[in-house]
Amino acid sequence: MKRVAIYPGSFDPFTNGHLNIIERGVKVFDNVIVAVAHNVSKKTIFTLDERVKIIREIFKGRPEVRVDYFQGLLVEYAKKLGTNIVLRGMRTVSDFEYELQMALSNKTLYPELETIFMVTESPHSHISSSLIKEIISLGGSAKEMVPEIVEKKLRKKLFKK
Ligand code: COA
Repeated sequence: MKRVAIYPGSFDPFTNGHLNIIERGVKVFDNVIVAVAHNVSKKTIFTLDERVKIIREIFKGRPEVRVDYFQGLLVEYAKKLGTNIVLRGMRTVSDFEYELQMALSNKTLYPELETIFMVTESPHSHISSSLIKEIISLGGSAKEMVPEIVEKKLRKKLFKK
């Protein structure tokens, strides 16, 4: 049986930190499904469609990485896909509390679900999507922090207004 892990997130935008987790994830699982969350209450800079397209472009020609989206509960999405593995990255101790709450809540809703954590490697552990948006909006370069396509699209988005 194939081991399929869901890697969920808002990815607004997708960063090298996310990339780091996925590249390591595919060494452990047969497939990683990058699941872009459609959260109507969260204001995002990129639409759901834009986030999905950007990530699909990054993983073009990589059948082991699938890019999808979901709305509603993650556990329902996992059941629909027929997998019980969720992959999450843990950057610093400040991520721990939030991740613990989420993993345990998901397990309450779907006891078979296992959340597997990977520690984000140090060159990426300080990165966050908000910081990247701030750096680019203030004229800085996020070259070391995001894939090229993300910086390009973000620049276009932020400066078109
Ligand atoms: N490297 C760098 N940054 C990372 C990272 C990594 N490996 N992992 C996370 N981050 C950052 C992101 O850039 C983002 O930064 P920001 O706060 O500045 O925007 C932040 O951590 C969180 O982003 P992300 O990993 O995308 O997670 P999220 O909190 O946006 O997504 C969901 C959480 C979508 C998984 C969760 O809300 C969910 O499951 N929603 C569905 C509804 C549901 O089931 N709710 C009940 C949950 S118990």
